[in-house]
Amino acid sequence: MRFQPSLVFLLAAAPYAAAYQDNNLKGYRPHRRAACACSTATFGPVSAREWFNAANPGWNAGNSLDALPDEGSWNNVPLQESTFDDVKDAGFKSVRIPVTYAEHFVRGSPNWTINATWLQRVSDVIDMATARGLYVITNMHHGECLLLYRLPSFVPNSVVIKDSWNWADVSKPNANQTLIREKFSAAWLQIAEKLACKPATVAFEPINEPAGSTETDSENLMKLNDLFLAALQESGGFNPQRVVTLSGLGMSGDKVHMFKKPGNMTNPWAFQFHYYSPYDFTFAAWGKTIWGSASDKAAVVSDLSAVRGNFSSDIPIVMGEFDASQLQCEAAARWKWFDHVVRTATSLGITSMVWDNGLDNLDRATGQWRDKIAVDITVNAVKGVTNSLADSTIDASATNQDSSAYIFNKVGSELADRTLSFILNGNSFKSLSVGTDLLEEGKDYTSSSSGAVTFKRSFLANYLSATAAPGTKANVTVTFSAGSPSQVELVQWDTPVLGALASAANDVPVGADLQVPVVWKGLHRVAAVKIVRGDGAYLVDDWTQWLPELQKGRGTLASQWNFDYDRVTITRAAVDAVIASGKNTAFTFEFYPRAAGNGNYINYTLTV
Ligand SMILES: *[C@@H]1O[C@H](CO)[C@@H](O)[C@H](O)[C@H]1NC(C)=O
Ligand SMILES: *[C@@H]1O[C@H](CO)[C@@H](O)[C@H](O)[C@H]1NC(C)=O
Ligand SMILES: *[C@@H]1O[C@H](CO)[C@@H](O)[C@H](O)[C@H]1NC(C)=O
Ligand SMILES: *[C@@H]1O[C@H](CO)[C@@H](O)[C@H](O)[C@H]1NC(C)=O
Ligand SMILES: *[C@@H]1O[C@H](CO)[C@@H](O)[C@H](O)[C@H]1NC(C)=O
Ligand SMILES: *[C@@H]1O[C@H](CO)[C@@H](O)[C@H](O)[C@H]1NC(C)=O
Ligand SMILES: *[C@@H]1O[C@H](CO)[C@@H](O)[C@H](O)[C@H]1NC(C)=O
Repeated sequence: MRFQPSLVFLLAAAPYAAAYQDNNLKGYRPHRRAACACSTATFGPVSAREWFNAANPGWNAGNSLDALPDEGSWNNVPLQESTFDDVKDAGFKSVRIPVTYAEHFVRGSPNWTINATWLQRVSDVIDMATARGLYVITNMHHGECLLLYRLPSFVPNSVVIKDSWNWADVSKPNANQTLIREKFSAAWLQIAEKLACKPATVAFEPINEPAGSTETDSENLMKLNDLFLAALQESGGFNPQRVVTLSGLGMSGDKVHMFKKPGNMTNPWAFQFHYYSPYDFTFAAWGKTIWGSASDKAAVVSDLSAVRGNFSSDIPIVMGEFDASQLQCEAAARWKWFDHVVRTATSLGITSMVWDNGLDNLDRATGQWRDKIAVDITVNAVKGVTNSLADSTIDASATNQDSSAYIFNKVGSELADRTLSFILNGNSFKSLSVGTDLLEEGKDYTSSSSGAVTFKRSFLANYLSATAAPGTKANVTVTFSAGSPSQVELVQWDTPVLGALASAANDVPVGADLQVPVVWKGLHRVAAVKIVRGDGAYLVDDWTQWLPELQKGRGTLASQWNFDYDRVTITRAAVDAVIASGKNTAFTFEFYPRAAGNGNYINYTLTV
């Protein structure tokens, strides 16, 4: 049926006007708008279920239009046509395009006019995706950190607000809910008008990961959801029939029960939540560098089933972000996690959209996927095709952690045949290759139907030896009778070298992190950091004494430690904790492979 936008608008607008009155916003509505008429475009209405089935799996264009203050301000080149070719070619069906409007308001209260150039850029990027047949979700993203203080000084009626005040955070003490609603409503009216004639493949999401934890916060958020829906009715065009996603506080699974569906909504909709669990694995906390035990897997099933359980089966659900980044998660563990999370989501009718800040997944400048295996695993899991997976240690008490994503050889060690195990899941081995060179079974390796591959010393000697220089030497692609390939990276390693081994905590400039240059000698990454004071106590998280050996006393990425391409970091918070403790403290940086007694760590001492 051909959709008549203006008619639907007339029918729908009257009831939704109440949303403004209920929220005391009548006086603040910028002006009565004429509904957009999309005369030349057609819009094939689609149910939310059809939409989210067709959009699975999806990819997030993170850290681009959501960067502050502007696109390009963070780690990515501006989105370009080829970005969307790369995403489509990889097998994704949809893109979530997060957009931050905070820095793009050119007028203050009550109009909150958004820069027209910015709205046009948002519209153009959406067109790049839809032109390729990709489904799109776009939103208002860093609502929780949209600072008013950067508004130009000429802004009329601007309210004096502290720098730290975050405009769309309904949970802040003394938040001016009227102001938040006014600004949110005005912004969505403009966004919805600009995008009113986009095709049915474009869906809207009101606000990303809204802050808050209490019932009151949740009620305030539900009002924003109402205002968002009202803006879609008010703006007309195809918006009254457009697919939307709605969410509860934080978009987190454990607050799902606080979400209330607006009683009077007419848009087709899905519930959206985000999933980065377990936290210790995906955020490199407390030394958890393994994943995949029966209880790890059961927790995912339980988490996703609880989200599903809060909604009747006719409501589609989208996991709008999920990731275990290649920057901080061990490869084989990560691949198992992707396979299990996406497969579990798919079985529950949940659409999966992987987060990508541009450092995790697609290098948007070169079009190279940083971990194509995880992408192929995702695409196959959605299709229900069985993946074979690199095996890795799942026993948390093990003091040697193995991974079939790597063959490590330590400088000075003599080479021998090496056997790796794969979880075949009913598939069989098809081929092994380095680039276009096929390995010869019998000569270069042997394999068994139970999933073992033995790499012959003679083959490995092409890359690894007692005297080879440290570094990544080759990647063996392993293909199977079905599903995603796997990869074995051949790495010659030695303990990395730090530019210094000790310094005084008080010499770290006020407000700054401590940066220590590093010369990597194998994989360019830190696995975990153990932090022990001179008196034997752990500097942070004393409770980790109850964890297994490779987790005791370990800190958390970004909270106490970090690393990049040429430095390791002890964070300001950790430096302050050392000063406060009054004790010299050893930071033991541990690297891959993690195995007791292999010497693959360096102590850095911070003195007081
Ligand atoms: C729609 O429901 C919300 C609460 O769920 C309410 O604030 C709003 O006024 C309602 N709109 C109409 C037209 O009843
Ligand atoms: C707000 O928008 C209305 C309608 O476009 C306009 O008449 C009014 O001047 C604007 N107010 C400010 C303060 O810019
Ligand atoms: C709108 O954005 C463009 C591009 O960043 C900028 O050149 C222009 O000055 C902005 N307009 C206003 C009124 O701030
Ligand atoms: C809250 O915001 C509204 C709308 O901008 C404004 O009229 C009101 O004065 C503000 N209240 C306070 C206490 O600042
Ligand atoms: C609904 O979600 C909550 C978490 O927010 C969970 O504890 C509860 O078990 C879920 N309900 C059902 C029926 O699954
Ligand atoms: C092997 O692949 C990894 C990414 O998975 C890459 O960082 C590394 O450079 C590759 N090694 C070689 C020798 O190509
Ligand atoms: C490194 O520090 C740890 C404490 O985390 C200590 O047990 C170990 O003996 C130190 N190793 C060296 C070589 O100093």
